[in-house]
Amino acid sequence: MTNKNKDSVNVMAIIRYVTIAIFIVSAYYLYGYFLESKEKARRQQANSSSSKEMYSAIGAPFKLTDYNGDSFSSEQLKGKIALLYFGFTFCPDICPESLGKLAEVKSTLDKYNLPIQIVFITIDPKRDTADALKEYLRGSFEGIIGLTGSDAEIEKVAKDYRVYYTISAQTKDEPEDYLLDHSSFSYLLDKEGDVAKHFSFSEPADEIVKYLVQYYKKTKIAE
Ligand code: NI
Repeated sequence: MTNKNKDSVNVMAIIRYVTIAIFIVSAYYLYGYFLESKEKARRQQANSSSSKEMYSAIGAPFKLTDYNGDSFSSEQLKGKIALLYFGFTFCPDICPESLGKLAEVKSTLDKYNLPIQIVFITIDPKRDTADALKEYLRGSFEGIIGLTGSDAEIEKVAKDYRVYYTISAQTKDEPEDYLLDHSSFSYLLDKEGDVAKHFSFSEPADEIVKYLVQYYKKTKIAE
């Protein structure tokens, strides 16, 4: 085995451990607040525990820039069901897999005539300009809206949605080729734009579809 091969074996082992570590950290990020809002909801309304209240501390209105360079407000999602995902276009594995899955969810729901908007918000605005997002999503992930913004805008929206992200330790000395460790949850936004549910990276597309088909039925009954 050459040194190079040995190195790549070591790198694979490190990536595996880092992936597990990121999952734990990002889950802690989300569930910490999740438990906090659940507790708040419990105190406010002792007998009710709807998912809306459980998610009350997650998410907030946002104003960003879409992949056409136009201003995009979360107001534009109101009246629609949406799935929100945070990531970056240089991501080698997790993001393309997640976006592929969400695109699959969308195309299945389209067949059932259940419209959904998939939104991809970058956590890497330095490299993910509007043009870069458009280039990335066009073709492979058709029908997904890409959003970017200033560093401060992205920092805020990520914080509001309890998204954990940081420059990967192994690539922090690479000014152009860095990677980001990040949460990989997808958030379901209801017609009011509030978080109604989250899905983890490991949730299969058909399970998400199953959930959403029921969700559409339920919300129709509730209307
Ligand atoms: Ni990623």
